[in-house]
Amino acid sequence: MKDQVIVFDTTLRDGEQSPGATMNAAEKMRLATQLEKLGVDAMEAGFPAASPGDFEAVELIAGKIRNTQVTALARASKEDIDRAWGAIKEAAHPRIHTFIATSDIHLEHKLKMTRDQVINKAVDAVRYARTLTGNVEFSAEDGSRSDPDFLCRVFEAAIEAGATTVNLPDTVGYAMPDEFTQLISYIRQHTPNIHRVVLSIHCHNDLGLATANTLAGLKAGARQVEVTINGIGERAGNTSLEEVVMGLYTRNDLLGLNTNINMPEIHSTSRLVSMVTGIVVQPNKAVVGANAFAHEAGIHQDGILKNPMTYEIMKPETIGLARNRLVLGKHSGRHAFKQKLQELGYDLSNGELNKLFDKFKGLADKRKEILDEDIEVLVAEEILRVPDVYQLDYLNVVSGNVAVPTATVKLKIQGSETLSAGFGIGPIDATFNTISKMVGSQAKLLRFSVNAISGGMDAQGEVTVRLKENGLVALGKGADPDIITASAKAYINGLNRLEYMKRNPSLSAEERTL
Ligand code: KIV
Ligand code: ZN
Repeated sequence: MKDQVIVFDTTLRDGEQSPGATMNAAEKMRLATQLEKLGVDAMEAGFPAASPGDFEAVELIAGKIRNTQVTALARASKEDIDRAWGAIKEAAHPRIHTFIATSDIHLEHKLKMTRDQVINKAVDAVRYARTLTGNVEFSAEDGSRSDPDFLCRVFEAAIEAGATTVNLPDTVGYAMPDEFTQLISYIRQHTPNIHRVVLSIHCHNDLGLATANTLAGLKAGARQVEVTINGIGERAGNTSLEEVVMGLYTRNDLLGLNTNINMPEIHSTSRLVSMVTGIVVQPNKAVVGANAFAHEAGIHQDGILKNPMTYEIMKPETIGLARNRLVLGKHSGRHAFKQKLQELGYDLSNGELNKLFDKFKGLADKRKEILDEDIEVLVAEEILRVPDVYQLDYLNVVSGNVAVPTATVKLKIQGSETLSAGFGIGPIDATFNTISKMVGSQAKLLRFSVNAISGGMDAQGEVTVRLKENGLVALGKGADPDIITASAKAYINGLNRLEYMKRNPSLSAEERTL
């Protein structure tokens, strides 16, 4: 059996289904470019039938990505498959990914179909997709809770109809590692012709077992893993790419499996996903968390100094995290700045570089040291984000233990300036009240959190907000040495995301049925 594992990244599709993680087409394109650089074998760019915005993003990505397979998701229907193909037909290596649920729970309560009807629908979908492309993946949604013999029948039929990859999802994160190994082994033994296609696995993390189940599936013979960066995704998320890749690399002695992933790109890809989606990586997250390589205990530090192998099973350099990072300051010139950006994985145009350099100088005037994290935030705020409907132009806040907190805000709303002032019970409340009045928003603030990006008294504050309006939920993120300004930026970013979602209505959760 081959020792190569195909890495299928679904950050742009299943990852985007994380509550509030909606990305627009330009943001998705940035991520797609980085995923190509990371060396994923296939990227699932989206679900084109879900919304015009999804279609547009997938089409954009398919037109630009040349070295990676670009996949589009479709339910098992001709209409969905036509939408998917319409979006990816210009891709250098297109793949249609069609799916239908196979568990009795889904058949009875959601699809209201018999097993034979499900097989017929799956076969029709795969056969039709094969008339469009030679690269077709079929997924049995809720596979891990399906009758194993029925699963074998569905896969056999899908392979006969032309599927080149069959995927077994643990859609609700219910499986246990041993059980998953047994299920994969059973399928490999009892599905005729399974050895002619790639057997894939797709795990969710509801019980915190997505990585364990994915590795268990590989051990049993699966050779494609469906993963997302930072493990983002529906509910508790999907299997995280970096955990599986580093697991395979670190324990190659045990598993003997390899991937095509360009590992030094892991860290910057993780940061980019966090910046673009607004989803903060928990500090103790395996591989990419801020503390993943931080040794706090004295005994550990002593051991590390004597020999890193004492307490370090992975080297930070392997994932692109330099031990001795070049720290920039106000005397750093354009050349050093450009070099730092390249080191962090950003190849910017001269125009983008000039725009960013001015912002960098502004920040360097306020702070002694500018760390990598600060630069990443600058890139995210100035370059990665699309032209926003609302932009912050000016903010002045008066507050204190005797003053009534007052905010004066100047916004650019679709290019035209407007100025207003308002009160609140605190400076942030005053700022948010004023902004929401100016843009006429009814959004409810569900969450507000502040993090220091880097240590020290002059650290930048990174604010995350979660907003809800008419059933839509959006995250917003902003950073600044001044936390009131960071809060205003985050709030405006959240409002822009809500605006984007309103303009690109997607299928309801029920219709998506994922
Ligand atoms: O979790 C799931 O079942 C899915 C399928 C569409 C592959 O995301
Ligand atoms: Zn999924």
